Amino acid sequence: MTTNDGGIDALLQEDRTFPPSKDFVSNANISDPDIYDKAKADPESFWAGFAKELDWFQGWDQVLDWKAPDAKWFINGKLNASYNCVDRHAKSEKRNKAALIWEGEPGDWKVYTYWDLLREVSKCANALKSLGVQKGDRVTIYLPMVPELVISMLACARIGAPHSVIFGGFSAESIRDRVEDSQSKLIITADGGYRRGSIVELKQNVNDAINADSPIENALVVRRTGHADDLMVSGRDVWWHDLVDSQSSVCEPESMDSEDMLFMLYTSGTTGKPKGIVHTTGGYMVGTYATTKWIFDLKDDDVYWCTADCGWITGHSYITYGPLSNGATQVLYEGSPDYPDKDRFWDIVAKYGVSILYTAPTAIRTFMRWGEEYPNRHDMSTLRLLGTVGEPINPEAWVWYWKNIGGERCPVVDTWWQTETGSVMISPLPGITTLKPGSATQAFPGIDADIVDDKGNSVPPGGGGYLVVKQPWPSMLRGIYGDKDRFVEQYWSKYPGEYFTSDGAKLDEEGYFWLLGRVDDVINVSAHRISTMEVESALVDNPKVAEAACIGKSHEVKGQAIVAFVTIKDQISTSDDLVTELKQHVATKIGPMARPDDIYFAAELPKTRSGKIMRRLLRDVAEGRTLGDTTTLADPAVVESLKSQYEDDE
Ligand code: PRX
Repeated sequence: MTTNDGGIDALLQEDRTFPPSKDFVSNANISDPDIYDKAKADPESFWAGFAKELDWFQGWDQVLDWKAPDAKWFINGKLNASYNCVDRHAKSEKRNKAALIWEGEPGDWKVYTYWDLLREVSKCANALKSLGVQKGDRVTIYLPMVPELVISMLACARIGAPHSVIFGGFSAESIRDRVEDSQSKLIITADGGYRRGSIVELKQNVNDAINADSPIENALVVRRTGHADDLMVSGRDVWWHDLVDSQSSVCEPESMDSEDMLFMLYTSGTTGKPKGIVHTTGGYMVGTYATTKWIFDLKDDDVYWCTADCGWITGHSYITYGPLSNGATQVLYEGSPDYPDKDRFWDIVAKYGVSILYTAPTAIRTFMRWGEEYPNRHDMSTLRLLGTVGEPINPEAWVWYWKNIGGERCPVVDTWWQTETGSVMISPLPGITTLKPGSATQAFPGIDADIVDDKGNSVPPGGGGYLVVKQPWPSMLRGIYGDKDRFVEQYWSKYPGEYFTSDGAKLDEEGYFWLLGRVDDVINVSAHRISTMEVESALVDNPKVAEAACIGKSHEVKGQAIVAFVTIKDQISTSDDLVTELKQHVATKIGPMARPDDIYFAAELPKTRSGKIMRRLLRDVAEGRTLGDTTTLADPAVVESLKSQYEDDE
C-alpha cells in the first residue's frame, strides 16, 4: 500500500510492542494480578461475579449446565435485558445522563437520556403489544441507524419477543428468506435511510419482500425520509408516529428465563442458506456486559462510539446491549464516513468529545488511503482508547490508527469474535496487556481458546492451526434457529465437545494469538461475512448462467473481494454488458455488499473427478500464484486455460 506513511515503516521495522501505560487505570485492573489464572481455575465463579452486577428478578440456582453441545447458564435466573439496559439507570442517579447521542447523515441530531429511553422503549413495547405481538413471537427489524433501531430492539426484549435485525443493505429477497425462516409476524422498518447523500429504499424493499404467503401481518414504519408515503399499504402498515407516540410510557418488563431467546441474527455459513444464530438472555447479557466493562473500559464520563450498524452482531453486542447495560453515553451515526467530506468521523469525534472509538480494519485502511489531512483537521484529544473488529488487521493499519487517530497515546484493542460467540473472545485488556500490532493477543479471562492441528492436538508456541474454544462461555450461541443438525454438524462435529470457529490462527512464542482468516467457504468483504455459495446461487439464478464458482481474493482495503468464475449457456455470448448485468443481479438478489469485484467467463470450471469445484485453484489463479496440486483435477487443462485468460485480462 502506498501512503504518506508518516514514519509508519520505521515504527514497524522496530518490530515494536506497546507495553501498557501506567497512566491507564483499567476497570479490570483489580488489585489481584492473576485474573487470568483465577478465571481459568474457576470460570463459573468468574462469570457469576459479573452476573451479580446485573439486575435479576430472581437469582439462579446453578451457574452452568453443560452437556456438549448444549449449554445452559444461570439456571432458573429471571431477568429482562431492557430493564438492565434502561430501567436500572433511569431509576438511578444516571437518569438524566445522555444514553444515545444520535446524528443523522444530513446533520440532524437527537439526544436521549436514560429517562427518555425508558419512556420511548416502553411506548414502543406497548405499540408492539397493541399489534398483537406476544412473548415468544419473532419480530423482524429492518431500519437505518436511527434511534428507533435501538429502541425497537429493547422494546422487543422488554416484552420477550425475540428480534431478528436485518442489515439495511440487504435486498428484498434476503428479507423474504429471513422473514420466512423466522416466521416473524411484524416487521419494523422506515420509508428510507440516508447513505452517502442518497436515499436507501427500505420501504420499497419491504413491499417487494412481502407477498401474500408472508407470515408478516403488519409493518410499523418510521418516517425518516418522507419520500415514500404512497408505499404505505392500508390495513397492514402503520406509521410509528401515529401508533408509538400515543402509547402509555409505562410498560412492565417481562420476567424472562435466563435461557429464553433474546434474539436471532442471520449470518452466512458454508451453504447458500443463511443461518439464524440464536442467543438467549442471561448468558448473553453477562458476556456483553463483562467484555464491554473490561475491554472498552467504560467509565461514567466516557463518550463511546462503535461505528458498526445494529444489523450486525457488533451493533447488537457493542451498541445496544453491552454499552447500555453498563450505563454508557454513546454516539450513533446513520451514514457514511465520507459525507459530505472524508472527515465526517473525525468531525463527530471532535463535536461530541468521543473518548472510545470502535471500528473495522477496512474503515481504517480506507482512512489511511484518504490520508492524515482529514483527521488532522480536528482536535481529537478526547480519545483515550481505540478498538477494531471484524477481520484481521494488518500491522501497518494498526500502527496508522494508533499514530494518526489515537495520537500515539491510546491503546488499540484488536477484538476477535463472531456472531456465534456473542461477545469478544480474544482481545487485549487495555492498560494491562502488552500490545503487538496485528495480534488480538490473548483470550479474555474465563475463555478457553486454543489452536489445534487436524487431529485436535494443541499446537506448540510458534505453531498454526484451527482456532477452537474448549469450554462453554455464557454468551455462546445456543443453536441455529430451527436446525439442530446443522448446529451440531457445523460447530461441534470436527472436534467433539469443542467449539470449532472456522478460523485459522497461529500462536507466537509468547502465546499470543494471530488470526489468519476463515478456513471455510466464507468470504470476509469489508468485515461482512458472505458465503461463496450464496453468491454462486445468485449468479446461477440468472438465466444466462450455467455454472458459477466464487472465491475471495486479497484486497488492499476490503480485506477480501469477491471474484466469480462463470460459465454461460451455449447460445449466449460474453460481453462487458453481461459482466455488469451479472454483478447487478447479485446485488439485487443479496445486497450491494455481495457484488463481485470481478467476473471471469470460463469455458469450464476446474473440478475433481467427483465433480467438486476446486476453489483452491481458482484462488491461485485470481491471486496470480503458482498453481497448487492439480493432480486430482478431472481435466488439468481447464485451469491452465483459465489462468491464461485471467492473465490476459489483468
Ligand atoms: O474470520 C473472523 C473475522 O470475522 C468472522 C466473524 O464474522 P461475524 O460473525 O460477521 O462477526 C464479525 C464481528 C464480530 C470471524 O470468524 N473476525 C472478526 N474479528 C476479527 C476477525 N478476524 C481477525 N481479527 C479480528 N479481530
